[in-house]
Amino acid sequence: MPHPDGSSAVSAREAFSQARRHLPPSLAVAGKLIGRGAVEESAEGCRVVLSDGRVALDFGSYAVTLLGHRHPEVVAAVRGQLDRLPTASRSLLNPVATAAAAELVDYLGGGLRRVYFGLNGSDAVEAVVKLARMATGRTRIVAVEGGYHGKSLGALALTHHHRYRAGLDDLLTGVVHVPADDADAVRRATDDGAVAAVLFEPVQGENGVRPLDVDVLRRWCADAHAHGAMVIADEIQSGLRRCGERSVALAAGLPVDAILLGKPLGGGVLPLSAAICAEHLYAPLIKDPLVHTSTFAGHPLACAALPAALAAVEDLAHRGEHIARQMAERLARVRERWPRLVTDVRGRGLLWGLDLANPHLAGQLILDLAHAGLLVSPCMSRPETLRLLPPLIAQDTELAEAFEVVEAALARLPVDTVGKGRSTDGR
Ligand SMILES: Cc1ncc(COP(=O)(O)O)c(C=O)c1O
Repeated sequence: MPHPDGSSAVSAREAFSQARRHLPPSLAVAGKLIGRGAVEESAEGCRVVLSDGRVALDFGSYAVTLLGHRHPEVVAAVRGQLDRLPTASRSLLNPVATAAAAELVDYLGGGLRRVYFGLNGSDAVEAVVKLARMATGRTRIVAVEGGYHGKSLGALALTHHHRYRAGLDDLLTGVVHVPADDADAVRRATDDGAVAAVLFEPVQGENGVRPLDVDVLRRWCADAHAHGAMVIADEIQSGLRRCGERSVALAAGLPVDAILLGKPLGGGVLPLSAAICAEHLYAPLIKDPLVHTSTFAGHPLACAALPAALAAVEDLAHRGEHIARQMAERLARVRERWPRLVTDVRGRGLLWGLDLANPHLAGQLILDLAHAGLLVSPCMSRPETLRLLPPLIAQDTELAEAFEVVEAALARLPVDTVGKGRSTDGR
C-alpha cells in the first residue's frame, strides 16, 4: 500500500511478516522485541521516530551516525548531486570522486596520498590487504586477537571471533593473530620475512571498546617496517573523531602505511569507506588500475557527502571533547553506583563500552533501554558489553536524558541473576 506521501513504506505488521518470510527470521524476532511491535519510520538529529509514534534517542547505529541522522549539510550536498549526476559513467573521470579523494588526503595531513574508495568497511579491508600482498609479494598478514574487520571472506580472515569464522577456516588462511598486549609479537611473526602487513584497530570497537597500548603499537610499527611489512590502522570505527582525533594512529605519531575509514565517512547518509594509502602500498593500482575495482566504488552520491561530512565533523570537534568528558564522568558514576552489575567501563571520545556482569544482563539492558527510548549497540565480539555511541550533535539535555534512561534501567535490572550475595539494587 503506498503511503499518502507517495512512499512505499509498509505497515509494521507487514514488515515483520516480510522479514520472517524473506530475511533471517530472527531479525524479525529481535526487531519486534526491540521496537515492541513498531519499526523505524523516520529520523532527524539524535532521534528516530517509530511507526507507533514513539521517539527514541539514537546512541547506537553501530557508529555510523556520528553526525546524527540527516545532517542538513550532508543531505543538501547529496540532494544537489542527485539532481546533477547520481551515478558515474565510469568511462569519464568523475570530479566529485577526485575532489573527495583530495579532501580526504588533506584531512589526514597529506602524508598518505592515495585513496581507494569502497562502500563498506570490509571493502576497504579487502582492498588494502590485497594491495599489501601485491606490493610486497608476500602472503602472510598479522592481525590482533579480538580484532574485528568485517565478514566478507578476505576481511573475515582478519576478524578473530570464532562465532563468525566457524566452518570457514579453510578459506581464512594466511593470517596470524597476535595478543594485543604482546609487544614482541610482531617481531616474532615478521622475523622470517613472509609478512606483507600488520593490521590493527587502535581502539578495538566490536571487542568491547578496548584501546590498544600506543607503546605496543609503536613497537609493532618499528618491527614490521624493519622486516619489510606494511602497517595498516583500521579506523573504520575509531577514526573521524569518534575517538577524539581525525585518526587515532596519526595523532599518536604512528608511522602507518594506510588508514582505513568507513561508517560515518558518508555523513551517516550514504555508505562509503576508504583506504588512504602511502604511495608504495598503492603501487599495484598505479601499475594497473584494474587489479582492484568494483562497479560502485567512488559513487558520486557518497563522494558528494564526504566533504560536507568532514566539514561538519570539524565544526563539531570542540563539542566532541565536551561530550567525551561528560561520558567519562557519568559512566564512572554509573560504575561506582552499580559495581556488581556494571563490571567495567572503557572508552574514548564518543565510543564507550559498558561491561555487564553477564551477556544475559547486557541483552536485557539493551532491550530495556530501547523500550525506555534509548537505542544503543551491542558489541559483535563481546555479548556482555553494551556500546554507547553518542553523536557529535548531542546536546547536554540529550546526554542527560540518555543517562536518566540508563540509570533507571540499571535500577530495574534483576541483580539476582548476577550471582549470590548481591543486594537487590546491585550495590
Ligand atoms: C574496525 C572495523 N573494521 C571493519 C568493519 C567492517 O565494516 P562493515 O561492516 O562496514 O563491512 C567494522 C564494522 O564494524 C569495524 O568496526
